[in-house]
Amino acid sequence: MILEAKNLYKNYTKGNSIIKVLENFSFEMEKGDFVAVVGPSGAGKSTLLHILGGLEKPDDGFVLFNGENIYNNDKNLDNIRNEHFGFVFQFHYLLDDFTALENVAIPGMINGSEKDAFERARDILAKMGLESRINHFPKELSGGEQQRVAIARALINSPSVLFADEPTGNLDKDNSKIVIEEFKRLNAEGLSIILVTHDEKIASVAKRILRVEKL
Ligand SMILES: Nc1ncnc2c1ncn2[C@@H]1O[C@H](COP(=O)(O)OP(=O)(O)O)[C@@H](O)[C@H]1O
Ligand SMILES: [Mg+2]
Repeated sequence: MILEAKNLYKNYTKGNSIIKVLENFSFEMEKGDFVAVVGPSGAGKSTLLHILGGLEKPDDGFVLFNGENIYNNDKNLDNIRNEHFGFVFQFHYLLDDFTALENVAIPGMINGSEKDAFERARDILAKMGLESRINHFPKELSGGEQQRVAIARALINSPSVLFADEPTGNLDKDNSKIVIEEFKRLNAEGLSIILVTHDEKIASVAKRILRVEKL
């Protein structure tokens, strides 16, 4: 198993009321899997993705990456997030003042030389068919291109698991299709993917669907 969740619990408190989001939730994922997390708005999809991805601690339970508890110590958690996990969100969060190539290369500089990061960034963008766009700024790209650059950025440190939260939520039908094709290609190359969506059609490209309900 590459990723496991064991008996997760998560509540939020809002004023005097408690919102139960996860109750004794367990999950296993093998290397190379492609899981779509589907459920209505407010069901806890984003919370689950954040907990599995090391972005938010559960109230109780464990998340294991290659058998190791990711919340065991903070330094270890930082390493796992930087070196083994990639994230894509609904909004691309690209830096306006940097080109597509720079946006992808910058997070790659944590783990290697600047020259090496730029070479890898160029390779990843070329594989996505964005070779002719590398020197464009985000505002000079279409919504679909912006999101593909954000996916490239998530891949710069060669993660083993890619986490995506409604990555097509802000795109029209044609751009959604292109972005989803990209996820399919990456999974076929061996990348493990967890993708949150409320769109059944998008979920159908995954190998398996995990349905979450509002508690
Ligand atoms: N930081 C927070 N503080 C309080 N409530 C939250 C917080 N984050 C999420 N929630 C609540 O938890 C529930 C699940 O939210 P979320 O995981 O974002 O659902 P989804 O992604 O499926 O729409 C919702 O009722 C939401 O309002
Ligand atoms: Mg959400």
